[in-house]
Amino acid sequence: MNEAWSADKVTSNSAEDTVQTDILIIGAGLAGLSTALALPKSLSVTVLSKSAIEVCSSHYAQGGIAASLDKNDRVADHIADTLVAGAGLCETDNTTNILSAGQQAVQWLCEQGVPFTLIPQHERQPYNNVNPLAAFQTSDLHLTKEGGHGCRRVAHADDATGRHIMEALTLKAQAASNITILPYHEALSLLKNSANPNKQCQGALVFDYHNQRKLTFHSRAVVLASGGLGQLFKRASAPNVCVGDGVMMAWQAGCRLANLEFIQFHPTGLALDNSSFLISEALRGEGGRLYCPQTGKRFMLDIDKRAELAPRDIVARAIAEQINKNGLGYVNLDVSHLPAEFLQAHFPQIYQTLLELGIDITTDPIPVAPTAHYSCGGVVTSANGLTDVAGLYAAGEVAYTGLHGANRLASNSLLECVVVGRNIATDLPR
Ligand code: SIN
Repeated sequence: MNEAWSADKVTSNSAEDTVQTDILIIGAGLAGLSTALALPKSLSVTVLSKSAIEVCSSHYAQGGIAASLDKNDRVADHIADTLVAGAGLCETDNTTNILSAGQQAVQWLCEQGVPFTLIPQHERQPYNNVNPLAAFQTSDLHLTKEGGHGCRRVAHADDATGRHIMEALTLKAQAASNITILPYHEALSLLKNSANPNKQCQGALVFDYHNQRKLTFHSRAVVLASGGLGQLFKRASAPNVCVGDGVMMAWQAGCRLANLEFIQFHPTGLALDNSSFLISEALRGEGGRLYCPQTGKRFMLDIDKRAELAPRDIVARAIAEQINKNGLGYVNLDVSHLPAEFLQAHFPQIYQTLLELGIDITTDPIPVAPTAHYSCGGVVTSANGLTDVAGLYAAGEVAYTGLHGANRLASNSLLECVVVGRNIATDLPR
């Protein structure tokens, strides 16, 4: 018997290779773990990870999580910026629903122990409503800026927000007596009960790589949180497990798909050999500038009044045009005019990773090029994550709530994972 199951959190019958669990979650990224942790402890929850637990896009997210947290910001402004970036193709109701829960979602992450970067102690407001569960309040968080946002709105944990969030939530999930995480278990197809008049989704066929066998998981409901499809492209920021299999399984089960043509390209992937390392938009948020390596021209000034902080599609297209013209395969991102101590303190991961590759970002330009980064479309769901198939929910990059329209506003996706994941937990039949 697989060791993970001996924890008595789920019951298995190895003779028949079937496993019984109340809720099956396919994917151990932020959407999957937010759902798992928000479900009542009385339900047994099994979370499948196709590879090692940390191999998911959430883990690699750098910038942060967008929410209207600044005292001068309003949720209405966040919604307006999202609709503009989405180029008129966002679903307004779902967008409003998800973004209105931003502050609450970030507060919840604080309570889970996520070590967000804080503003200096002397600049903090006195608490009027101290929450004993959180080490700090959302008003203490340092906010950075990214393209398309009208103000500082992105809470972050240095420049490795995803890693810090996932480490905190993974610890919580591993400690929860009702949650079992099974790494190296790949869902192959969803099971629907044909005897049920609703043709309810009631489990999945799964391959267990540890024991090289197929398993049938039976559950009351399934949550698809399997991530995106970046690996269909030559250059991608997503890990190699992100091949669109969740979208395929949902389609086969009878779900509608929407907007799959809207693949977001991040403007600044590191353009060095076959690297998939991202150079966070927060570097441009803090003043990074893009130059043509041949002419030395700061080309974004001619393209958009927001220059390097125009929405991603505009910056990515401008870079692609420069690359087509110069034939070099990259443009330069320069941050050497920013104080070295600031760069080292706020971007430790990028600073160190590039230093090891021979680029000192405090003095050298960074070669960058657009890289496939996010699927704005996916499995059609409500803001509660419900798909067209009864008993089947979807959240995160695999899903389409309409929040991202034709072009996702930076850092809205981590927020969507938390809000929709937690909504699913509330919506699921008890
Ligand atoms: C980044 O740090 O630039 C990525 C943020 C995002 O894609 O939301």
